[in-house]
Amino acid sequence: MERFRNSAVWLGAFYLICMTVLSRSGVDGVFPPLFKLAALCKFCDLLPTSCNGTGNCKSNCSITSICGLPEQVCVAIWRRNDNNHTLETVCHDPALPLYGMHLDDYNSSTCVMKEKKAEDGMLFICSCNQEECNDNVIFTQIQGPTVESQVAAVILVSLLPLLVLAVLVVAMFYWYRVYRRRQSEWDTRKPHKRKGPLDCSDACAIMMDDDRSDSSSTHANSLNHNTEPLPIELDQLVGKGRFAEVYKAKLKQNPSEQFETVAVKIFPEEEYASWKNEKDIFSDIDLKHENVLHFLTAEERKVEKQYWLITAFHSCGNLQDYLMRHVISWEDLRVLGSSLARGVAHLHSDHSTGGRPKVPIVHRDLKSSNILVKQDLCCCLCDFGLALRLDNSLSVDDLANSGQVGTARYMAPEVLESRINLENIESFKQADIYSMALVLWEITSRCTAIGEVKEYEPPFGSKVREHPCVESMKDNVLRDRGRPEIPDSWSKHQGVAIVCGTIDECWDHDPEARLTAHCVAERFDEIEDEMDKLSSRSSSEEKIPEDLSQNDGK
Ligand code: ADE
Repeated sequence: MERFRNSAVWLGAFYLICMTVLSRSGVDGVFPPLFKLAALCKFCDLLPTSCNGTGNCKSNCSITSICGLPEQVCVAIWRRNDNNHTLETVCHDPALPLYGMHLDDYNSSTCVMKEKKAEDGMLFICSCNQEECNDNVIFTQIQGPTVESQVAAVILVSLLPLLVLAVLVVAMFYWYRVYRRRQSEWDTRKPHKRKGPLDCSDACAIMMDDDRSDSSSTHANSLNHNTEPLPIELDQLVGKGRFAEVYKAKLKQNPSEQFETVAVKIFPEEEYASWKNEKDIFSDIDLKHENVLHFLTAEERKVEKQYWLITAFHSCGNLQDYLMRHVISWEDLRVLGSSLARGVAHLHSDHSTGGRPKVPIVHRDLKSSNILVKQDLCCCLCDFGLALRLDNSLSVDDLANSGQVGTARYMAPEVLESRINLENIESFKQADIYSMALVLWEITSRCTAIGEVKEYEPPFGSKVREHPCVESMKDNVLRDRGRPEIPDSWSKHQGVAIVCGTIDECWDHDPEARLTAHCVAERFDEIEDEMDKLSSRSSSEEKIPEDLSQNDGK
């Protein structure tokens, strides 16, 4: 029995020694202790420390203490004061609050600091359960860049110049396009003789908030591809043609109350072909000219089942209406005639004003009601529903299929008899010149410089009915070789005489013998020079006797 008691004491002592060694050496749980031993911790309470709250710090505490209770763990508390830092090392039972906080990391073997809000302000605290584990406190490491982030940074830095370059290129390209668009708009709107503020004599009279004058627009000469139609409010009907109606309208300038007055030509669904043709003609950027109606955009108004063309608005209306209502001066005749010729010359030309190649266009329905009068009395051509682009790809068949088009009253003899020379694109221009001659005659007939001015009458007005058919025009123009009358009295005025001579050459029966529009425009310029010469000659003739009389007096 004695031997048995001795063996039990020795066995118990051996187990105690083993467990102490194992538990101190950190092999917890392998041999669960029969009882928990008190922890061995640094215990200096509060000490100033050089630890600045980064990386790993030593406590510099020289006191290692066996905690008073086996439940207690090692704790370290770091504080930032006004001008120093402190580190507190203690033993503490995690079941109890410390500075109003509960320890949550006491099962850790290392003391990793966490910032916490305590009763007395912010502090860093850590707890752990290994021997003197609060001697070495670890602040959350300032994360150095990972390899991935370093690679990303390198890529970013090396791509940055490329990115900047791309942004610059895009910005420059955008700026260049805006600049080119402004430039071309400005070119077509360049005023004739710009004096004072913008007015209707400018090719681009922009109208805001009032509708006194003509309008052009700041909008590009393009198609409206937006799904949203432009905010346009139709005002009143100003014209009715074969295919469409024209309205004066307000183009709203969001978000203000301002608006731009525009003209809206509305084609019903059935006249799609006419809308399409006019839209395609207008879409040629090279068509832009001060004597051609300024086009803003085209729209398909699906809801209304309509097709719209939106253009500048000219408050003086069309030339026919203008001549009906007004008698004009010699100066007006010169302005109207010369601008009409310049408009047609531009249309027919194979190069733009800047010298770039351009597709010649023929109007094929020139008449005074298809010409608008601008405020400065310059003409601008409109209604391109029958116009034709004479591009090189057109075959004789294409041209033949385009048929006899236009308004019978203004049709050239060769068009009336459908004998236009399809082999030569100049033939189409020559037919336009004949029609232009009739318009020049209409203008002249209302000019005070011819003497007595009669009521307005269209060409062949007394000879045919309001809407003559091709057959009756054939009788007049082909069979009788008739042309509107030019009385001798008209030629008493030197300028009018030149205009009448020009008209006569333009309505020649032989298309080849007709002048070109460019030549007519030059004639008008020469008339101005001639008139200047004549007036300076006559004024110097008046002065000579004066001078002589002065000499005589000497
Ligand atoms: N009649 C036809 N088109 C017109 C326009 N653009 N401005 C004024 N009246 C017109």
